[in-house]
Amino acid sequence: MKIGTPLTDHATRVMLLGSGELGKEVAIELQRLGAEVIAVDRYANAPAMQVAHRSHVIPMTDAQVLNGVILAEAPHIIVPEIEAIATDVLAGIEAAGLARVIPTARATQLTMNREGIRRLAAEELGLPTSPYAFAASAEELAAGAKAVGFPCFVKPVMSSSGKGQSYVEGPEGVADAWAYAEASGRVAGGVVIVEGKIDFDYEITLLTVRSLRDGAVRTDFCAPIGHRQQKGDYVESWQPQAMSEAALKAAQDIAAKVTDALGGLGVFGVELFVKGDEVWFSEVSPRPHDTGLVTLATQTMSEFALHARAILGLPVDVSLREPGASAVIYGGMEAEGVVFEGVAEALSVPTADLRLFGKPEAFERRRMGVALARGADTDEARARAAEAAGKLRVIKP
Ligand SMILES: Nc1ncnc2c1ncn2[C@@H]1O[C@H](COP(=O)(O)OP(=O)(O)OP(=O)(O)O)[C@@H](O)[C@H]1O
Ligand SMILES: [Mg+2]
Repeated sequence: MKIGTPLTDHATRVMLLGSGELGKEVAIELQRLGAEVIAVDRYANAPAMQVAHRSHVIPMTDAQVLNGVILAEAPHIIVPEIEAIATDVLAGIEAAGLARVIPTARATQLTMNREGIRRLAAEELGLPTSPYAFAASAEELAAGAKAVGFPCFVKPVMSSSGKGQSYVEGPEGVADAWAYAEASGRVAGGVVIVEGKIDFDYEITLLTVRSLRDGAVRTDFCAPIGHRQQKGDYVESWQPQAMSEAALKAAQDIAAKVTDALGGLGVFGVELFVKGDEVWFSEVSPRPHDTGLVTLATQTMSEFALHARAILGLPVDVSLREPGASAVIYGGMEAEGVVFEGVAEALSVPTADLRLFGKPEAFERRRMGVALARGADTDEARARAAEAAGKLRVIKP
């Protein structure tokens, strides 16, 4: 593996498609290894753009525009950070041998649609999942919900971060769930998945890394990350999540099967539900996971450093250093160019650290930063991260 000098003809060029807070950390790690980083997103001054060599503002779902930017920049490696991308373009670029897509173009296609990844996991790989059905109309949804049973979750097949999702307790809630999904589905098409509720004890993200060592692909697992979700969005995560040996083994087996099937190199966030020794597959991100922000505090190499190393074909170290936690800091308002107050107070909490993402605009439920902390155990770390996040105030400029 060779790495050239950035901004020369021999640079190792990496293009990020999506330039949010996760991409920003990946960009920093790539910069540290001497890669040339090109950040792309649909709005200006996105977090990763602020630490990249250059950037482009384009609609990434527009195939022609996306193709044009890729051809003009001629990156060696393309790193999708979000799902809302014209993934057919990536398939074309990969097939033509113009760039490597992380982890693979097919993986980005399968995971951008809940139907693709669910059918792969449940029907091809035979992994345990919630009962599910797909529906393209209110009538089909009513039938699907009845089949999987109540309570259930209704989600647009093209959506993330809880957008357009409903929790439906009985038949009377189906019509509203359909209307809500229709109104907020990210990409037109109007198909939803309805999933029976898994009555889990806890849920985890199992960060799984496919990397090269001595010319062969190997799979490594980070310590499991526990997290708490609110309205489909994570508010708090911690590592390690305590698990029975049998549950951890089952979780690693599922993660290995899914990531083997998706292939390529890089970090995957495998989302799993756990009850006792039983484990269900929920979904997978073929990239670093938001709940994995905690690894900035806990691991020898954060999930972002792991991703950068793995995609460049370099060896990784997934070891956990210390228990830790992350707590999300929301905008809490709609405003441009917000100001953070109480930074010194937040950082006075023992072991506390902050990532303020630098997003140009805040929304009520937009993630603007994260507080990190370590501790003797995850309880102590969680209390510290929450305390630090609580000391921070987002105010209008
Ligand atoms: N079938 C289910 N049974 C129990 N809980 C569920 C089920 N589906 C979703 N949930 C809960 O809702 C959360 C969000 O669901 P999911 O991960 O499918 O949505 P998402 O929009 O992809 O969210 P994100 O992009 O943040 O991962 C899950 O982490 C879990 O807490
Ligand atoms: Mg999820």
